[in-house]
Amino acid sequence: MASFDLGGRVVLVTGASAGIGRATAGVLAGLGATVIANGRDQGRLDATVAALPGGPHVAAPFDLLDIDAIPAWLKGLAADRPLHGIAHCAGVQVSRAVRQFDVAHFDQVMHANLASALALARGLRQAGVHAAECAMVLVASVGAYIGQPSNIVYGASKAGLIAAARGLAMELLRDGIRVNAVAPALVETDMAERTRRTMSEAQFAGLLDRHPMGIGKPEDVAHAIAFLLGDGARWINGITLPVDGGHLAR
Ligand SMILES: NC(=O)c1ccc[n+]([C@@H]2O[C@H](COP(=O)([O-])OP(=O)(O)OC[C@H]3O[C@@H](n4cnc5c(N)ncnc54)[C@H](OP(=O)(O)O)[C@@H]3O)[C@@H](O)[C@H]2O)c1
Repeated sequence: MASFDLGGRVVLVTGASAGIGRATAGVLAGLGATVIANGRDQGRLDATVAALPGGPHVAAPFDLLDIDAIPAWLKGLAADRPLHGIAHCAGVQVSRAVRQFDVAHFDQVMHANLASALALARGLRQAGVHAAECAMVLVASVGAYIGQPSNIVYGASKAGLIAAARGLAMELLRDGIRVNAVAPALVETDMAERTRRTMSEAQFAGLLDRHPMGIGKPEDVAHAIAFLLGDGARWINGITLPVDGGHLAR
């Protein structure tokens, strides 16, 4: 299955210290990629890297909220070898009703989820940073499509990622960089557990009820990301693939 093989590819995975990013690092390494694992927590990144097959993989701790520093950071990461892809899994979800809306909340969520992606794209397109054929996958959410109380800024940030994937796909075509997104429904991670704690039992049961195949595993999303990064997706550009166990079909 040569189209799924990532041997010889170097891929940056953001959010690799936990959840979907950590699973993505595992799946990509299993397909032969060399992984650069990003997050902020050095200890958890080291644990991710230690568990990966193949290699040599590296941990690259960096706070993606330092938006304007991202392009130079990427240039440094690619100093020895260009990147063949970025899986942008890092993100934050903070539940807040609109009556509690303020600019600090907006900036935190929009910068962590959306501005980080745009700065990564800016960094990736620099000369010498990307390989001749390269791909970027952004992790959006079904929250971009479905109205969820207390999740409005998060949903807007993920809708922004979906629009950004389309625009970037067109703008970065000339650089040989494809850009796509995935939109997961509820996936069993620390983020989902934190969300559960903000809900009543009945609210959470209602959310589960809207997942006809149950909630997802991080690997379910990781496999879709791996596909979009690889040659099997060479003619797929600017799309958002729901990875949701039928949530949107319900
Ligand atoms: N879980 C779900 O149900 C679900 C559903 C739809 C979409 N998603 C999306 O999937 C992605 C991964 O979610 P998850 O559930 O795996 O979340 P998670 O378990 O909370 O992990 C989030 C990851 O993002 C990293 N991160 C957060 N802020 C960062 C920053 N400023 N700089 C660098 N890294 C940062 C964290 O690293 P450190 O802690 O080391 O900083 C961590 O590795 C997110 O974009 C999320 O919105 C999740």
